[in-house]
Amino acid sequence: MTETCIASAPGKLALFGEHAVVHGRHCIVTAIDKRMWVKVTRSNQTILTSKQMGLYNYIIKDGVNYPKEVAYVARAIQRVSGYLGRPIKAEIETWSDFSADYGFGSSSAVTVSIIKALMCMNDLELNDKTLFELSYGTVIDVQGRHNKSGQPLASGFDVAAAIYGGTIDFSKNEVVVPLRSGQIPLLVAYSGSKASTVELVNRVTELCLDHKVFCEALFNISDQIVQLAKGALAVENWEELGKLMTINHGLLSSLGVSSIKLDSLVSASINAGAYGAKLSGAGGGDCIIAIVERDTRLKVENAIKREGGTIINVNLNAEGARIDKKD
Ligand code: PMV
Repeated sequence: MTETCIASAPGKLALFGEHAVVHGRHCIVTAIDKRMWVKVTRSNQTILTSKQMGLYNYIIKDGVNYPKEVAYVARAIQRVSGYLGRPIKAEIETWSDFSADYGFGSSSAVTVSIIKALMCMNDLELNDKTLFELSYGTVIDVQGRHNKSGQPLASGFDVAAAIYGGTIDFSKNEVVVPLRSGQIPLLVAYSGSKASTVELVNRVTELCLDHKVFCEALFNISDQIVQLAKGALAVENWEELGKLMTINHGLLSSLGVSSIKLDSLVSASINAGAYGAKLSGAGGGDCIIAIVERDTRLKVENAIKREGGTIINVNLNAEGARIDKKD
């Protein structure tokens, strides 16, 4: 019988199509080489330790309203128990290669890793589709639905990136399409503040209930940008990819999710020689991404730093969820 399993899943960066993907359009997301790790050990009670979150032997029981960080773990356990038809108890330890502030998808990566690890402890291996259903279900349990439209606030793009890895074309209710891409010359910079994805998705969904015609048009353009970006990625046309990023940024700005800081980082990057730049993720804060050739990289990095941004070194196209150890 398996006593202990360690599983891990990558964080992600949204390259194109965020927000529109919540409303049924496509997006492009890439898995990064910074991972979230979960170790589960068979036990007679469920306790969580996460040094990064300041949690030590935190007891998890059913029917309690947990803070967000714990809620993903608690809900994932419930989902796995429901799937297996019996209660699951385990000592759980989580740790991560990156700060939860960056918007790299720590919640989805921890959810996927914990479900994968718990299945491994029960000598089961789920196919990707079932792992996605259980993980996405967990994320919806925690993030909820929009109170008027009733649609889930999360598209599941980050869950898909954590499971499949690589760079993918994702849209709700369609199969994930892996995209072949070389090392994209991408620069990532943290704006210095954390954004609330749920709040921003709610804001856009609310805006779009009142301005449906405009939003539909913007989402359709976003979808076209994604299609063009897939073409540019395939032939490694970085200049075109950059231009598409800048257009996508303007579109997200029209939806009201950019900020003075994000705009200034995007402008600074482009003025210093980047082919293009955009906010990545829900907006409001977190990170910007820019397409920058090797010879202008230092100049762009310095311009970003002068605007108060922090350069984050990540590699893209990382491996998806995996079992790292089984005893
Ligand atoms: O804030 P992030 O990095 O989790 O990205 C959110 C992207 C949205 O499209 C706004 C939401 C979603 O679930 O697709």
